[in-house]
Amino acid sequence: MPDRISLLPDNIANQIAAGEVIQRPASAVKELLENAVDAGATEIKLFINDAGKALVQVTDNGSGMSETDARMCFERHATSKIKNIDDLFHIRTMGFRGEALASIAAVAQVELRTKRDTDETATCIEIENSAVLKQSPVAAPTGTSIAMKNLFFNVPARRNFLKSNAAEMRHVIDEFMRVALAFPEIFFSLTNNGQEVFHLEGGSLKGRILQLLGTYYNAKVVSVKEETDYLNVYGFVGKPETAKRTRGDQYFFVNNRFIKSAYLNHAVMNAYQSMIGSDSFPMYVLFIDLNPEQVDVNVHPTKQEIKFEDEKIVYAFIQAAVKHALAQFSITPTLDFELNASIQGLDAIQQPFTDEKRSATTGSTIFQTFTEANQAHKIDPGHTELKHWSSYDQSSLKGASTPAAEKTSKENFYSLSSAFAPAEAVALIQIFSTYILVPSAENFLLVHQQAAHERIIYERLMAAVEGRPMSTQQSLFPTSLQLSPGDTAILQELLPDLQQMGYIIEPFGTNAFVIQGTPADMNSSNEKEVIEKVLEQYKHFSSELKLSKREMLLRSVAAQGAIRSGVTLSEREMQNLLSDLFACAVPNSTASGRPTYLEFKKEALEKMFGR
Ligand SMILES: Nc1ncnc2c1ncn2[C@@H]1O[C@H](COP(=O)(O)OP(=O)(O)OP(=O)(O)O)[C@@H](O)[C@H]1O
Ligand SMILES: [Mg+2]
Repeated sequence: MPDRISLLPDNIANQIAAGEVIQRPASAVKELLENAVDAGATEIKLFINDAGKALVQVTDNGSGMSETDARMCFERHATSKIKNIDDLFHIRTMGFRGEALASIAAVAQVELRTKRDTDETATCIEIENSAVLKQSPVAAPTGTSIAMKNLFFNVPARRNFLKSNAAEMRHVIDEFMRVALAFPEIFFSLTNNGQEVFHLEGGSLKGRILQLLGTYYNAKVVSVKEETDYLNVYGFVGKPETAKRTRGDQYFFVNNRFIKSAYLNHAVMNAYQSMIGSDSFPMYVLFIDLNPEQVDVNVHPTKQEIKFEDEKIVYAFIQAAVKHALAQFSITPTLDFELNASIQGLDAIQQPFTDEKRSATTGSTIFQTFTEANQAHKIDPGHTELKHWSSYDQSSLKGASTPAAEKTSKENFYSLSSAFAPAEAVALIQIFSTYILVPSAENFLLVHQQAAHERIIYERLMAAVEGRPMSTQQSLFPTSLQLSPGDTAILQELLPDLQQMGYIIEPFGTNAFVIQGTPADMNSSNEKEVIEKVLEQYKHFSSELKLSKREMLLRSVAAQGAIRSGVTLSEREMQNLLSDLFACAVPNSTASGRPTYLEFKKEALEKMFGR
């Protein structure tokens, strides 16, 4: 038997190794920006074409490289940043593995131009498939420019795995924002398809936060600053009222390196305690500086996960620092106590409630109209003559997700939908301005108005993107929309789909848009807020679920366009909502799987009453 093992050629080995470091255009953005920071640049410019699939280029005014280093930098394990393993625990640079450029050169076409201050001419190197194609002296300013073109041109399978431009651009912007936040004193710009979307002059951390996360946070953040011998924590946290429904604006940096840590996030959440709801997420940008010996940054190729020597101390420290900051700026709910005190002082509360007072109250016209109005809505058996309602199959109401169940429920509900012809008087009752009570002979339904409307809009939008365009209602007073540069880039990618759904949104200057029209039949009272929430939700979905871009968009728009809980509906509106719901292909749940209604059986009620 012949021997079978052979060494892989360098370029193949590099391609395989590159998989860990360079997964998408955004990975290259991170690596190139970090190299520029490590080179001591004070001005860093990022250029993106086609969401980075065609071009990711970073130019800096940093140290530059000698001619030899310019060739060396593409070798695997070639680095100027560490010399031995001990250095790893004194590391102050972002890079140290010496594999980012080798990885990029293995999976893309790369052009490097670099010049040191002391050199006359710059060196230009073109490289692809890990092989140098050309090297020549050129004229260029001091610093370095690296252009990565046509990522994965030589690994088609991986190129096919790249997501839509909107999704890839979101990753690019995420990485850009992380580096730009970590180094507020450096100038950064981002130019996307020839248009400059970020232009960030160097300055304070607070200034950088406002540039990146929106001026909205001005006067809405409090500063955190605690110093000890062991570690320092500084940065900003949002006041409780700025907490959002999605966890977008949360950043930890350890020795200026962006990291992800559910554990430390928990420490911050704990510090807010009862100040915010359990389902909302406060903004924070927190820097933790400690002796590099206390952290291992080499646990993951992308360096976004790290290990602390003593995680518990860091946790306790962050929690205390954030708590302290929030208390210091008296954001703790002292207001509530004051309010309570003044309520306690009111006459009506201080006096005992007597029988005399009771009869005065129940005799009042307000009390009577209120109770009479309620009685008028009492369930009158004479009104619930919809015999065919009792025919629906209870089993179909459960297990909404199996195709078989969907089919049964649809068939059974067709007969239902005819029951909701507006001419027919069905006594519908709205409860808590949230549910619609739909009675029949053998059971009743509680329909969740918001969930039901969400399902209806979702199916309409689905039909729209499948080629039956949604009609648009023109806005009488077009609203303008000012977005952060990051959101602008995302919205631009979404415009064609949104248009098919009935939105007319036009670009209007830098980071601004005008909403000229919205889909007909949708809650459009505040179209601006709807679009902002759609962007917010879109980001939320894309980080948590593996859904297609279109599906995410459909769900976001449906969720935002639906009537809210707490809105009083007329009889007619309730009728329409129900007939639309039961005309849906899958009436019993929203696209994300929450029930649109629950069914209560008469039989079960009787059992509960011991009958
Ligand atoms: N923009 C730049 N300016 C000056 N030198 C650079 C620049 N980019 C890279 N280099 C040099 O090339 C070397 C290799 O870069 P590369 O990103 O591959 O590795 P690294 O930064 O040392 O480690 P890591 O793989 O962890 O990023 C660096 O150590 C540095 O000396
Ligand atoms: Mg590097």
